[in-house]
Amino acid sequence: MRVKKISPSILSADFMKLGEEVRAVESCGADILHVDVMDGRFVPGITIGSVVVEQLGRFSHIPLDVHLMVEEPARIVDQYLVDRVQTLVVHLEAAGHLHRLIQFIKDKGVRAGASLNPATPLSMLEEILPDLDQVLIMTVNPGFGGQSLISSVIPKIARLRRWIDEKGYNTELAADGGISLENVSEVSRAGADVLVAGSAIFHSKDYGGTIRTLRERAEDVAS
Ligand code: DX5
Ligand code: ZN
Repeated sequence: MRVKKISPSILSADFMKLGEEVRAVESCGADILHVDVMDGRFVPGITIGSVVVEQLGRFSHIPLDVHLMVEEPARIVDQYLVDRVQTLVVHLEAAGHLHRLIQFIKDKGVRAGASLNPATPLSMLEEILPDLDQVLIMTVNPGFGGQSLISSVIPKIARLRRWIDEKGYNTELAADGGISLENVSEVSRAGADVLVAGSAIFHSKDYGGTIRTLRERAEDVAS
């Protein structure tokens, strides 16, 4: 059975009580905290930056995956090489010299990931896939929490799963955006290892129940 990981995206948490929100999902069995950094250029919004990520890293008991939705990520990645950051994910569409950047991140002892927008073809990964620790497939257009999953991206997840498995790579496959109790089985069955969920968890009344059900439904379909 393939192990599935549930990763709450704090974008949908109550920022006025972020510490409590982090403790709550940790104690409910979340595997990884998903942290969305936006720069107001790659995507319209601005969320949190390195000061908050550094504090989250000191505070959190579980690892952080930092999703950089920023232009020219090479200018700022070093600010996010902090405690507890397990994976730094940059957008393929925004990174000029992706190979160099991925090597830089890995040389610092942090896992390196690349994210693809819904319209970005998997073929863009052709040369870099063997070097990646994670591919984060966007199942919504990045920029906002609470959007609906774009179901036409699901076959893309399945194709990437087959590609990774056929080549025998260790690359982790994560899916991000619009994941809910209703569609998590389908996304997991397509082959995602990490299920990122923001509003499905933080807008629910019972974080524990939601995380448990997401995991059960994700693992039920695991082969
Ligand atoms: C979207 C972010 C996602 C988002 C997911 O730009 O990258 O991580 O927070 O939130 P939901 O699960 O509400 O779509
Ligand atoms: Zn994200």
